[in-house]
Amino acid sequence: MAIRPIITIGHKTLSRKAAPVEEIDDDVRLLARDMVETLHAAPGIGLSAPQVNAGVRLIVVDLSIGENPDELIVMANPEITAQEGACVREEGCLSVPEVFEKVSRPQKITVRGLGLDGREKIIEAQDLLARAFCHEIDHLEGKLFVDRLSPLKRSLIRKKFKKAAAAAS
Ligand code: NI
Repeated sequence: MAIRPIITIGHKTLSRKAAPVEEIDDDVRLLARDMVETLHAAPGIGLSAPQVNAGVRLIVVDLSIGENPDELIVMANPEITAQEGACVREEGCLSVPEVFEKVSRPQKITVRGLGLDGREKIIEAQDLLARAFCHEIDHLEGKLFVDRLSPLKRSLIRKKFKKAAAAAS
């Protein structure tokens, strides 16, 4: 197991659509284990494979941040099959450090995907868990939460990170 570097806004992989996981093999299991370790170390409540520069549809979510193994969810090819309600809350992302903005998400969703055992998994989630799934599934579509903000806010945030990247290089 290893902690992998988390890439940040501006990196190409974050704006690309990720490819489906064709088969749960050793590579996928290793990636999942590394993602869990990386998520807990960050610390955060959700991480998608593109954030560790792997362009596949794999996410990990753990509202307990490593405190309760029962709350750890690893899912390949997650899909939202139903949603209801809406809820506006502040959101952040490990790939957009120190930015927190209000984003509207469904209050309740049903998610379908594959577990690491290769079996179909269906999860009903609400509130923060629903938000975490929506956020991570957005990553698989090449979308960051800042892309859900107003065009002005989004461009200000993108500019800020561009400047920081230029200053660092
Ligand atoms: Ni994120």
